[in-house]
Amino acid sequence: MAVLSIVMHPAEILEKECEPVRQFDKKLKILLNDMYETMLAADGVGLAAPQIGIDQQIAVVDIGDELGRINLINPIIIEKSGEQTDVEGCLSFPGLYGTVSRPYYVKVKAQDVKGRFFYIEAEDYLARAIQHEIDHLHGILFTSKVLKYIDEEDLEGYEGE
Ligand code: NI
Repeated sequence: MAVLSIVMHPAEILEKECEPVRQFDKKLKILLNDMYETMLAADGVGLAAPQIGIDQQIAVVDIGDELGRINLINPIIIEKSGEQTDVEGCLSFPGLYGTVSRPYYVKVKAQDVKGRFFYIEAEDYLARAIQHEIDHLHGILFTSKVLKYIDEEDLEGYEGE
């Protein structure tokens, strides 16, 4: 596995609609592994393909819970409910944090590395991380949703991400 370099804002690729994945080949498997390694190396809980310069609908999420690593290929939110507001950050915006409101619960349909469809239900922090990454695949950055920016020193008490 390889640690890739993360694209920092501003960059055109971060604001693009990504292309659906159609080839579920070995290259995709390697890319997902590299993305996961890159995410861990950057101490993140999620990483989307445009953040490593690839305009495809691919993301990895791992918030350190019992589900562990989740590969999301061509993910679609098919159900959402409730509301939560908490602090978010983004590996493409080092040192920037702000509160964002999002649905508390989501049900997502996606494909795995072999192209098999699966559903995942998530709430709270995992739902937030998944929604943040799916936004990336449509060129939507968390800064467009921030209600209030938070100073890095005031982050204590927030989970952060
Ligand atoms: Ni992000």
